[in-house]
Amino acid sequence: MAMKPCLSTSLPFVLLLFSWAFGGAASNESQSDLPKCGQAIEASDADRVKFAMNLEFLEAEFFLYGALGRGLDSIVPYLAQGGPPPVGAQKANLDPLIQQIIEEFGYQEVGHLRAIYTKVGGIQRPLLNLSAQNFAQVMDEAVGRKLQPPFDPYANSINYLLASYLIPYVGLVGYVGTIPYLSDFNSKSLVASLLGVESGQDAVLRTLLYERANQVVAPYNMTVAEFTNKTSALRNKLAMCGIKDEGIIVPSSLGAENRTTSNILSADSYSVSYSRTPQEIARIVYGTGNEAKPGGFYPRGANGRIARSLRSA
Ligand SMILES: *[C@@H]1O[C@H](CO)[C@@H](O)[C@H](O)[C@H]1NC(C)=O
Ligand SMILES: *[C@@H]1O[C@H](CO)[C@@H](O)[C@H](O)[C@H]1NC(C)=O
Ligand SMILES: *[C@@H]1O[C@H](CO)[C@@H](O)[C@H](O)[C@H]1NC(C)=O
Ligand SMILES: *[C@@H]1O[C@H](CO)[C@@H](O)[C@H](O)[C@H]1NC(C)=O
Ligand SMILES: *[C@@H]1O[C@H](CO)[C@@H](O)[C@H](O)[C@H]1NC(C)=O
Repeated sequence: MAMKPCLSTSLPFVLLLFSWAFGGAASNESQSDLPKCGQAIEASDADRVKFAMNLEFLEAEFFLYGALGRGLDSIVPYLAQGGPPPVGAQKANLDPLIQQIIEEFGYQEVGHLRAIYTKVGGIQRPLLNLSAQNFAQVMDEAVGRKLQPPFDPYANSINYLLASYLIPYVGLVGYVGTIPYLSDFNSKSLVASLLGVESGQDAVLRTLLYERANQVVAPYNMTVAEFTNKTSALRNKLAMCGIKDEGIIVPSSLGAENRTTSNILSADSYSVSYSRTPQEIARIVYGTGNEAKPGGFYPRGANGRIARSLRSA
């Protein structure tokens, strides 16, 4: 659901305040009767923040490679902590505006990794599968048929934006889901600040997609809006916890106050951010719908204590 008037620089902050104030009550809404949802994990603040690093690595590598053709190893290698380089990442064929935005996002993710590393310690970079084939597989699953030719995230700006649509939003809802479980003031403050930039990135990507909502994504005979709708639906299906992810054009029952069909921000019926648990995040980014079964972007699974414990549960 969109918070329609707020696409200004103050957006992340507003979003943040709302999540703090109402996050708990709002997440109660659709989850309580779903058996796979709302299971709390025992973990330290540091482990919770380190779980998020898995997504920050994914974003950093995808954005840096997409914009520059090189990744963390060529920019701040120590942050990878000896983890293997990503598979299949490459420079995308972006127009100058999108290239510049994505380059900035890439460096922001480097900053996030450094912030976490410095404040709570790091994890090793997990093996990431950023190959065009992997994105193609996700898109095939989202649209329910084999796209011909296979979807290539690196082919042009639209495809790259659609592929990016898959990413910061998952980080954002993960951070929202983390805050209520943190005990220490410093970790809350860290996560809140990371969330601020993450939600800003998501808003920018969604706005860029919204501008192109009715454009057909050649050669597939599907519009940008349809792609976002289908990929959001796939994430909802994989995570198994109801609707927490919405496309950029929706029936007004999902729009802000049931009044808009534009949905530039994905949010619940109070227009506050959805939140997700580590289990839900793992189900989505593994592409398996099972937090114990790695795959998708993380062929060997995510790193850190929480991800490991989910695999052995
Ligand atoms: C949360 O869920 C419980 C149990 O389903 C319900 O009694 C309560 O009213 C809900 N709270 C909110 C704020 O929706
Ligand atoms: C990456 O994903 C593609 C498509 O699923 C797969 O063919 C390839 O083996 C994967 N690579 C790794 C290293 O897991
Ligand atoms: C493209 O999609 C529209 C609407 O879904 C449909 O009417 C049309 O026949 C399709 N065209 C092709 C070439 O598949
Ligand atoms: C996708 O669009 C359909 C039809 O408008 C709608 O019912 C559904 O809620 C949308 N799903 C998402 C996740 O946006
Ligand atoms: C929007 O519509 C749903 C039913 O589709 C209803 O439950 C909800 O209360 C409505 N929200 C507002 C703000 O009118």
